[in-house]
Amino acid sequence: MQHRLCYDVIIIGSGAAGLTTALRLPAAVRIALISKDLPDAGATCWAQGGVAAVLDDHDHIDQHVQDTLTAGAGLCDQQAVQNVVSHGRESIQWLISQGVPFTTASQSSGFHLTQEGGHSSRRIVHVADATGRAISNTLLQQAGSKANIDLFSHHLAIDLLNVGTLPTRCLGASVFDLKHRQIRLFSSRFTVLACGGASSAYIFSSNGDGASGDGIAMAWRGGCRVANMEFNQFHPTCLYHPEARSMLISEALRGEGGLLKRPNGSRFMPEYDVHAELAPRDIVARAMDCEMKRLGVNCLYLDISHKPADFIRSHFPNIYQRCLSYGIDITTDPVPVVPAAHYTCGGIVVNQHGQTDTQGLFAVGECSFTGLHGANRLASNSLLECFVSARHCAQWITRAMAQYPNLPPAPAWNENRQADHGNMGILIHHIKVLRRLMWDNVGIVRSTAGLQKAMAQLKLLQAASRQLHHDRTISKHLIELRNLTLVSELIIRCALARKESRGLHYSLDYPERANVAKNTILTPGQKS
Ligand code: FAD
Ligand code: SIN
Repeated sequence: MQHRLCYDVIIIGSGAAGLTTALRLPAAVRIALISKDLPDAGATCWAQGGVAAVLDDHDHIDQHVQDTLTAGAGLCDQQAVQNVVSHGRESIQWLISQGVPFTTASQSSGFHLTQEGGHSSRRIVHVADATGRAISNTLLQQAGSKANIDLFSHHLAIDLLNVGTLPTRCLGASVFDLKHRQIRLFSSRFTVLACGGASSAYIFSSNGDGASGDGIAMAWRGGCRVANMEFNQFHPTCLYHPEARSMLISEALRGEGGLLKRPNGSRFMPEYDVHAELAPRDIVARAMDCEMKRLGVNCLYLDISHKPADFIRSHFPNIYQRCLSYGIDITTDPVPVVPAAHYTCGGIVVNQHGQTDTQGLFAVGECSFTGLHGANRLASNSLLECFVSARHCAQWITRAMAQYPNLPPAPAWNENRQADHGNMGILIHHIKVLRRLMWDNVGIVRSTAGLQKAMAQLKLLQAASRQLHHDRTISKHLIELRNLTLVSELIIRCALARKESRGLHYSLDYPERANVAKNTILTPGQKS
């Protein structure tokens, strides 16, 4: 049986973007905040380094803008950059007003500001080395205390409920209640996708399995354009240890003096870039990939042991403890590290209010494409984008509420699927095959032949996924496989369309950067 619930706004995703949107809407607005796992399971909670914002007297908005443009390799939308960067201070003040306990220091800003790659100044405000956890806990606590916000955890959105033809109007979403194993229909005046990125399309990822690009896939199926999916950011330093899946070693370690080394203890980054370990991420990850292939080694090393032990323990208490639990003492030993898929720079095309191509549908945070990141995101700009975009989106929805005083008639829904875990083994196998395929062929260094091979094999996985989907059963793994195969196709299509190397997309067949920088925009129903 299907259950229908009615809200003014449904927000799919309870990370930084979804929570901020919910908290920035007026108290009179009835909100459903939906997340497919526990509410704190997305990337937000794992964020370590912090939030980039101009807070120091010696820093300037223009410098932050310039650093973002430089990292973005000529592809950032200048207006989007200016918009996000200029709202840095206000965003931090809002987070403090919500109760986020940023680490303080006797600097002019009052905060301890750390350094990360690509930034010309110390600009990253943080809560020790667990910034995301502090932000997530604080905002979730705030959301939990609001009478107008209903939190639905373990609710997995399947598809949007759209009506009409171009432009379509979104009236909510179909959602799989994972605990009660039933489909619920959420009707709403406005729907916000805040579902995070698609980095779990890769076998080595700093993200959890839930980063399966669900929001991007739902929007695409619903008729929205998607852009720049070829720009998958690989973070240079994830812990290389058989038991430590997805453990990031923050870039802030390099900001505070950590050095990247070969197994013989020699540094290599000065040979690749004048900024050495603090070059933008695309350059560091590619240099590591090159060194690992050249030396035939499985990992390289990040060494901060030349710094005083007390300094390391006080700045990086969580990383220190977690590494220690794997038998690595970062105060004395170099840490084995490898690059891993970390961030999706492309996503659902939106304007500065988060509006998508579908009426009533918005996208904020990592699943959206605002033009901020260009061909490579600058470190710690992602959380900032979540806070700024979510605020603008909430303001727009608040104004637009008056135009839609009543809930529009809900669209019909006649699908009648049964919850079923029967195919779990095969689904997990398909997901693993897909992730390996993407890692091997659509990774840090690409070739046209590799991309074409990946596309051909992907089609087989899509056919298998479609077959399972048509079996009138439903499960979490099936929904995620369906979305992962779709976003992987979008990544490969964008990568094949880009006949140059720029930022995070490096092609052996087109190693030069083109003179003119263009976004790769895909439109549903049109061949790229
Ligand atoms: P997320 O926080 O990923 O939240 C997505 C939400 O959507 C989750 O609640 C999830 O359950 C829900 N969801 C997804 N699909 C569905 C569905 N189908 N149905 C229902 N719910 C769904 N950025 C920085 O700026 N600074 C940092 O220091 C930093 N460190 C990072 C460290 C790590 C290890 C990682 C992985 C990322 C880091 N990033 C950092 C990037 C940043 O954390 C993310 O880009 C940002 O948190 C994304 O926020 P979001 O709200 O868009 O998505
Ligand atoms: C990190 O702490 O290295 C992650 C920062 C980011 O992804 O912006």
